[in-house]
Amino acid sequence: VLEVLIPVPVASIIIRNKMSERISLPNYNQESGLAKWVALPKVELHCHLEGTLRFSTILQEAKRHKIQLPSNDEAELRKYFLVEEKVDSLAKFLQIVDRQLIIVQDFQTIVRMAREAVIDRCMDGIKVVELRYSPTGLQSAMKSSKIAVTLAEIHDAVQSGINEGAKLCQADGVPIYVGLLCTGILAKGQTDMNNTAEFLLANRGDFIGFDVAGAEEKLLDYKDIFDRVHEAGIKITIHAGELRTPQSVANIRDAIKSLHASRIGHGVNAIRDPEVYQLVKDSSTHLELCPISNVRTNAVDDIKTHPIKKYLDDSFNISISSDDPAAMDITLSYQYGVLHRTFNFGLPDFFRMNRDALSVSFIPMHLKKPLLEQYF
Ligand code: HPA
Ligand code: ZN
Repeated sequence: VLEVLIPVPVASIIIRNKMSERISLPNYNQESGLAKWVALPKVELHCHLEGTLRFSTILQEAKRHKIQLPSNDEAELRKYFLVEEKVDSLAKFLQIVDRQLIIVQDFQTIVRMAREAVIDRCMDGIKVVELRYSPTGLQSAMKSSKIAVTLAEIHDAVQSGINEGAKLCQADGVPIYVGLLCTGILAKGQTDMNNTAEFLLANRGDFIGFDVAGAEEKLLDYKDIFDRVHEAGIKITIHAGELRTPQSVANIRDAIKSLHASRIGHGVNAIRDPEVYQLVKDSSTHLELCPISNVRTNAVDDIKTHPIKKYLDDSFNISISSDDPAAMDITLSYQYGVLHRTFNFGLPDFFRMNRDALSVSFIPMHLKKPLLEQYF
């Protein structure tokens, strides 16, 4: 009889911190440069698993799968797979990073991607991370390499990798808490969005929430899906306000008013409409801001014109995330340094945003209190 592998729900990995493991403020104050921001305990709410693939892993897995890459030159390949500079649009960005999926040809690659995603966040000083991934996205990636797999098998691989990573971090005395979000991709259409929601509902114990990503279109067309997920008691965050179009701004309003989002991915373009701006503020909807991502995808002109400072000064409920860290070759700590240099954000600002992030995190309530007391 085959032993059935029961994936350990990520939520069951309890962090047991000794006081000695605590990163204290005096320690932080001794650090300088990037190390200073790494030493600061951080919460990250918006990070796509598919955007965490190390460049070195892409190359190694391509080699293992004997995949012919478009060049032998590393600099060329970096340009092919990564978005290290601003591109014209989110669509262009997604087109480039989707190329990475060619290496997803077996479960081993998925396990590795998830394990390294956790380890890399941990090494960056992140104490709580919500990772999000698209089950049907990884399934299509494997299909294109002619391997038919079920969503359940994909999901088991993701969970195994996350658990391996979390256990390694714990064993090293640097625990990290990981929650998993299920992402639906708009560009894949109604049927795929439906399948994603059904998969989430059938496996709700493994996920802490629902996310909708991809190049924005009219979100209201998907209202029945959001209603079903919401009625099942699942928390919702939606990518909205990431494009400079009227529809994108309207999506922020619809996400809050009609689609049950308690958080918005980005929401940068709320700044373009006074009513939507006021709605975000009055409803205290949390904005998962990813400023460097917004520069790279051309959601804003440059980091100086990003509204994060205005939002912070205007008491918005916000936090900072990296979005697709490896795909952009950034870390969350690097971004803290950029924000410090650009807007003079200091410790009280970062603490406030991390506390707000933890407060609105979809991780179980009983875990938040000890984490808040320990780190923030
Ligand atoms: N927006 C929409 N879809 C995405 C993003 C994003 O920033 N990153 C990965 N998929
Ligand atoms: Zn995103």
